[in-house]
Amino acid sequence: MADSELSVRWPAAYNTLPKDVFYRRDVYDAELARIFYGPEWHPVAHRSEIPNKGDFKTLQIGEAPVLIVHGDDGKVRVFYNSCPHRGTQLQICARGHTKEIECPYHRWLFSLKGDLLGAPGIAEFSANFKKEDFGLRELRSGEFCGLIFATCSDAAPELTEFLKGTEDYLGKALGGDGRLTLIGYQKTIYGTNWKEYGDNEGYHPPLLHRAFRLLKWQGGKGSNGVTEHGHKVMEAEVQRPQPGFLDDHSLVEFRDTSTPPRSVIVSFWPMTTIVKHMDVINVRYAFPLSPDETEVHYAYFAHQDDSPELYEHRVRQASNLLGPSGFISLEDGAVFSRVHGGSRGLGTVAFQKGYADKPLEAPCFVAQNDEASNLVRWEHYRKSMGFARD
Ligand code: FES
Ligand SMILES: [Fe+2]
Repeated sequence: MADSELSVRWPAAYNTLPKDVFYRRDVYDAELARIFYGPEWHPVAHRSEIPNKGDFKTLQIGEAPVLIVHGDDGKVRVFYNSCPHRGTQLQICARGHTKEIECPYHRWLFSLKGDLLGAPGIAEFSANFKKEDFGLRELRSGEFCGLIFATCSDAAPELTEFLKGTEDYLGKALGGDGRLTLIGYQKTIYGTNWKEYGDNEGYHPPLLHRAFRLLKWQGGKGSNGVTEHGHKVMEAEVQRPQPGFLDDHSLVEFRDTSTPPRSVIVSFWPMTTIVKHMDVINVRYAFPLSPDETEVHYAYFAHQDDSPELYEHRVRQASNLLGPSGFISLEDGAVFSRVHGGSRGLGTVAFQKGYADKPLEAPCFVAQNDEASNLVRWEHYRKSMGFARD
């Protein structure tokens, strides 16, 4: 879509946003093209989700289905999950194991490297048909601490450039060295726009989340920053909960003695968030389904060196604290859909907490409970979409 066909009135004030970007279908379609299929990188798997040769996983980047395959040669490749013949989705289960990739429609067969091995009736294909031209379409991909990233765009910068400023936090959040093992997933669809989901910030936690009071448990001092590219990074001490408020408070104990008791969060632009909270190691893969729906896959991990007791503790803590039904995250899901409902109320919204009436110069740090750092990603959004300020 040409810029001239997509008109959005963007307020002049740096902290103010138009509400219609949260529900307009034409804006959403342009976001898919310019952001999700544009020059951004997206986490699609951790190596521990597909630890063995032949393991695969499916996901989406925007609405594009992708297939992540652990090859015979140990390399992880990311392909469009779409047959080069007539486009059929090659795999539809969330995770699996295979020796070759076979399309169910006309049985074309592909190697784990994506090469076309054979096709029934190939002798009757066009004289110009060459197998080499019909391999699976591969996306650019890269890896950091076991986390695999992919991009649909040749124009994306190198992955190292995209990650700049997040590396230290990402390492800590992924168990220190990325040697993880998958515990499992919780998957949900929030009734909200992907940008409302991604705008979750440091201002709301003590105000929205009753669980903190219920558990008589508070966070400690911390930092809240944003990189040049709009990724948010946070690190905070998490105090040990006071004993006695529950008969059994083992749910909120720290048992991993290899790291200090911290909460570490990396919230990548445009969507996926990596969280280490108490002993929970969590990657939240996320993608939009429409202007009104956002799907989130909460993947939970343990460390390969965990004792059986620590592993069990992580299993219990993961789904009970975070995730769509976790003590801490339950209210986020509820408020996301209320924010989206309210966005239909015309006009604008504005970030206030920590805003000093001038643009933020990223990379920078803001106060721990500020929301202003989100404005850096909003500026990145505005420029990516080609919207001019009033
Ligand atoms: S669509 Fe895949 S083999 Fe025909
Ligand atoms: Fe929250």
